[in-house]
Order: sequence, then C-alpha cells, then structure tokens
Amino acid sequence: MRRLQQLHGNIAALEEEGQRLIFVFGPHYTQQVLSDSKTFHSRFFALRGPKNSAQRRLTSGLLTMNGEEHKRHRRMVFEPFQKKSIENYRDALADLVQRMIGEWKAGQLRNIFRDMTHYMLRVTSSILFGFDLPDLAYTIGHMIEQWMGMNHELGMGAFISDPGITQGYSGLLQMAEKLEAQILAMINHRRQSANLGNDVLSLLIRARDESGTGMTDAELIGQAAILFGAAHLTTANTLTWTLFLLAQHPEIGSALFDELTGVLKGEVPTLDQLEQLPLLDRVIKESMRVLPASSYSQRINVMPVQLGPFQLNGATPIIFSPLISHRLPDQFPEPEHFLPERWLSIAPSPYAYFPFAAGPRMCLGATLAQMTLRITVPAIWQRFRLTVLDGADIQAQVRSTMACIRPKLFFQQFHGKRQHPRIRSPAAGHSIQRCFQASRLTIPRRTRRPKLS
Ligand code: HEM
Repeated sequence: MRRLQQLHGNIAALEEEGQRLIFVFGPHYTQQVLSDSKTFHSRFFALRGPKNSAQRRLTSGLLTMNGEEHKRHRRMVFEPFQKKSIENYRDALADLVQRMIGEWKAGQLRNIFRDMTHYMLRVTSSILFGFDLPDLAYTIGHMIEQWMGMNHELGMGAFISDPGITQGYSGLLQMAEKLEAQILAMINHRRQSANLGNDVLSLLIRARDESGTGMTDAELIGQAAILFGAAHLTTANTLTWTLFLLAQHPEIGSALFDELTGVLKGEVPTLDQLEQLPLLDRVIKESMRVLPASSYSQRINVMPVQLGPFQLNGATPIIFSPLISHRLPDQFPEPEHFLPERWLSIAPSPYAYFPFAAGPRMCLGATLAQMTLRITVPAIWQRFRLTVLDGADIQAQVRSTMACIRPKLFFQQFHGKRQHPRIRSPAAGHSIQRCFQASRLTIPRRTRRPKLS
C-alpha cells in the first residue's frame, strides 16, 4: 500500500484477471468514501456462509449491515456505548488491570502482546457478556477470537484469489456452530434472569427500536460476535503499541510518569481524573496515528460513481487506510516519528486522522476504547517501567487489525527514586508479512529530539 501511494499518489488501482481493487489515501478521497454510506457499502466478512447457517447469523452484525437495516441496528446498539453506560465499567477495568499487574514481578521478561491480548479477553468478555458467569463469558470470548482469526485467514482467499486458503471452509462452518451454541446459552441465561445486568448483552436484550420491537436471538448473536471481534484485538494491539512506544522513548515515558504520579499518586484514574491528563491524551493520539490498530478496511460501491480518475460501474472493492493516511508528510510532518507534542499545534480533519474511521459508520466503541486505554496505560505505567529487550524481534503484521507479534519487553519496577527507563536496543529487526503480498511497514524510529512540554 505504501508503495502504491508513493508511486501513484492518493488514489491507485490494482488489477488482476479483470478484478480491480481501488486504494484511497488522504483526507479528500477518504472523505468521499466514508461519508457516503449510500454509495459505498461495508462488506466486512468475505465468507458469509449458506443461508440459515450459524456462519451467516454470526456475520450479520453492524459491520456487515447497510442502508436502513444498519441505521436501525446502529441506533439500538448505540445505547450501551454512550458515555453514561460505559462509565459503569470503570471499576471493572480498574479491578482487572490491578489483578493483571499484581502478577507481574520486577525484572521479569514478558511478552506484552500476549499479556494485553489476555487482559483484553477478560475485559471484553466481562463488559460484553456480564460479570456473573466469568468462565462462560471467557470461553465465548476465546471462541470468538479463534473464529475471527479463521475468518481473516480464509477470507484473504477471496481477496487475493488464493484457492489454497479457502480449504478450511468447512472447519469454519463447524466452528461457527459451536460458537453460536455458546452465545445462545448466554442469551438464554440472561433472558431467564430476573435482573438483567449492566453488561452490553443485557442492554441489547432490553433495547427497543421506535416501534417497540426488540432484537431476535439471531440478531443478538450477530451483534454480540461482531462487537467482541471489533473490541478485543483492536484495543489489545493499541495497548501493546502504546507501551512499546513509551518504552522506546524514555524521555516521553518519564514525562508521562511525572504527569500520572502527580495527579493520580499511584492510583488507577477515576473518571474525573481522566480529564486532567493532557500528555496521556497526546501519547495515545500519537500512538494511534503512527501504529493504528485498524490499518485498513474496505467499502464496495453499490451504484456507479466517479472516484478520482476512475469511473466505477460494477461493484468494486475500495480500500481505505488509516495506516498510510496517517503517514502522509503533507498532513503530519516527520510522519514516521513518534512525537506526541505535535498534537499541541495540529487539529487534523476527521478524514486525515481516523483511527476509529469516520462518518456514519465510525467506530461505535471509540469512547469505550478510549476509556480502556486511559485507565490501563496509567495503571501499568505508574508501577512498571518497560524496556525493550536486547535484540528483541518486534514484528508487525498488517491486517485489517494490526497484530503485533512477539514483542518482548523487559521491565523493571520503579523503586523510590525514579530512574530513566533504558532501551537496550531500539526495535531491532522488523518485518511485515503479507499486505497484498508486497508492503513493508516502518516501526517508528526512536525520536532523537523529543521536545517535552
Ligand atoms: C482501539 C480500539 C478500537 C479501534 C482502533 C477501532 C477501530 C474501528 C474502525 C476503524 C472501525 C470502522 C471499520 C469499517 O468501517 O470498516 C470500527 C467500527 C466499529 N467498531 Fe471499533 N475500534 C476499536 C474498539 C472498539 C470497541 C471497544 C468496540 C465495542 C465494544 C467497537 C465496536 C465497533 C463497531 C460496532 C463498529 C462498526 C460500526 C458500524 O459499522 O456502524 N470498536 N472500529
């Protein structure tokens, strides 16, 4: 993608055997595609499964809906993600993060990506499915994670015409059936409980549209699966990259430590305190600019449209990419550098900086994700200093969510007088596997001249 942008600018096409794929970068074309949901539809899952199959029901959530159906469901799914609903999750988040770091020991070697993925599995399953049946919630979360992974791997076959990749299709359908049975067990449990809880599933069971109609079990199954899939790895990856960037930039890490301990005195932030941490905000914004968890996604035009130089008559997949758009030098000078202070002087348009996408289909969980990040990072950063291990093999894989594979961060605990976190070796060796078979991602180089404020 990066080479395409460098060679052809902000709109480019790849064509193979009559199949055309359009790529748009930068605010102009991104706005045209993301703001017009009538012309450009979402087509998130490549493999929908046969009609009436579990796979079809599980892939029938917000991300795959369009038109009136999308509007109706978005209104119903919106409620659990409003500020007043998600504020209820602050204590659960504080409890889960404290439990996680309670098990960490100074001097340990840890795989932070694994830790964050595991932590977010607990967080997401509790918030979505409830706190009273943690084991069932966790099992469902784990199964959704595996099912999403299979969808991604097999779905790539539809994208890059590789017949070998589609061989596991029947395995995917079987997995979908097992997963659906578990989600249904949870729905039945919730429907039978006299008191529904504050978890998202309970709120969805209670939700009604304008005509007073609630969701059917099949609709709940689709929404629950997609919500989990949308929430889990995106947030785990953002946490991992943010901690990595802080470890890689010790001066910024120290300034953040000062801000956090000054306001929070070692405690997990309350909701009011979240408003008093401006450097934390800039760090998270910059982390999501330079390493956005959702590196690309796609739309498909459902009516003829002129997009830049291309007249698109038949349905054509269109890729938009926060990862590439966030690194355009005309929008973000020194784009490859992690510079949180740039946010003191820039206010990019929502189509130039869009880690949560933009327009009528913007991420519904953005506020929840922000709260999770702004509670978890301070809890960890006040207790532990992370150091990238000598010769650490930091690999990034560009997928529709960006997975960070095998980062090894070595950390020590703060003792009394704070010392600067040490980087033994900045991000040694990185590689990208498969982004339309030809692309490399640059892990931000260590910034040499951080200006702290
Ligand atoms: C750092 C974490 C997250 C990032 C980076 C992120 C990013 C995104 C992006 C880029 C999209 C647009 C995808 C597209 O249109 O193709 C999206 C959509 C969505 N996200 Fe998130 N997301 C995050 C967390 C969450 C959470 C925590 C939830 C809910 C529990 C969530 C729920 C959704 C939903 C439901 C949609 C579909 C909205 C629609 O189509 O109307 N996301 N997200």
